[in-house]
Amino acid sequence: MEPVDLLIRNAAEVVTCRGAPDGVRGPALSRLEVIADGAVAVRAGRIVAVGESARLLARVQAKETIDATGRLVSPGLVDPHTHLVHAGSRHEEWEARVLGRPPGLAGGIRWTVEQTGEAGDAALTRKAIADLDTMLAHGTTTVEAKSGYGLEPERELRLLRLIRGLRHPVEVVVTYLAAHVLPTKYAADRAAYVARAIETVPEAATLAEYCDVFCDPAGFTAGECRAILEAALRSGMRLRLHADQTGRAGGIQLATELGASSADHLEHAREEDVVELASSRTVGVLLPGVTHHMLEMVPGLSTGRLTNPPYPYMPLLARQLVDAGARLALATDYNPGTSPTLSMQAVMQLAARLYRLSYAEIWHMATINAAASLDRGQDRGSLEPGKRADLMIWKVPHHGMVINRFGTNLVDTVIKDGVRTTGPGQ
Ligand code: NIG
Ligand code: FE
Repeated sequence: MEPVDLLIRNAAEVVTCRGAPDGVRGPALSRLEVIADGAVAVRAGRIVAVGESARLLARVQAKETIDATGRLVSPGLVDPHTHLVHAGSRHEEWEARVLGRPPGLAGGIRWTVEQTGEAGDAALTRKAIADLDTMLAHGTTTVEAKSGYGLEPERELRLLRLIRGLRHPVEVVVTYLAAHVLPTKYAADRAAYVARAIETVPEAATLAEYCDVFCDPAGFTAGECRAILEAALRSGMRLRLHADQTGRAGGIQLATELGASSADHLEHAREEDVVELASSRTVGVLLPGVTHHMLEMVPGLSTGRLTNPPYPYMPLLARQLVDAGARLALATDYNPGTSPTLSMQAVMQLAARLYRLSYAEIWHMATINAAASLDRGQDRGSLEPGKRADLMIWKVPHHGMVINRFGTNLVDTVIKDGVRTTGPGQ
């Protein structure tokens, strides 16, 4: 008998989300591996076996056993796009949007930048840790966290240092958001701001793995973004982009051309962008929390900034991306303005409702493909021998129930690197 640290057995279902480490796509997206009466064995923080309970029980001797009868077991969720560190709430600004009223003055990204600048390091860290606790309790075991509410280089570096300093069971992948919005004082000299961002890249590269830019009519042009991203590549960073969220700025094309790990948002993708993304290795990250919170099933609808017909309509775009064979992931985009949610579980539920994606598609997008977008598909994102033991037990027996239900937390127990971090055992 093989000795193991932990055996989870008799799960109604084990959904493995097994698939290509660089992202599941095409017809494979709809083929989800589900093991009935399943079990998972863990040793030294890694998965050593996954299969039917009877087979594993005959093979391993466990120090600790969890009986998962009547419950689902899945990989831990991976959230590959968040603005984790910030201060302040934007609920008042949002009510104006709901009511179709003009936004007040206290709002927008720059307002969050002010709040974040005024908050002390200890307060920002405390809030970020509390948010990571909530994420973990909802099933997230790996999260990307970007700076971006600093704008001034020294303030961006401060945020990167704070993110780097977070100590928490949820693993945090750090991104330097080098160009979010233009500080007003640079309105007359955009080039000077872009030059400062480029000068900051080498130091940011010692703190962050990825460089991100807001390539968008409301952010920076493709030319400005290219200059920053090429500097990031020279400093050894990998790339992710906010691409074409409020209008088409060439962000998707730039992402694929520069070999970015991810292109996120995509709301204003045209057919040629869909084709381009599908023929690249760049993972497209969809953000249904934004669609939901901005009341924009049709991008631009709530602000009256509609482009020429045919409008991008999110369910149609999501289906086009899937059918074209793009690698696709889901993320919260947690931030106080466009998506104030910490829950990948909620995002999975919204993806079905707003984008008309299937259970199988959504499970792959929230696990293995989200890991692939963080270049971590080799060691997490699915339940396979050799991978990190990042997994969770759900209160429901079927993987479809996680998505069909909404509004309550369905997580029972979360295990990160083989260690039980939340749940009844705590
Ligand atoms: O990802 N679009 C740019 N950045 C954020 C929004 C940030 C904010 O509104 O504070 C996003 O949606
Ligand atoms: Fe974002």
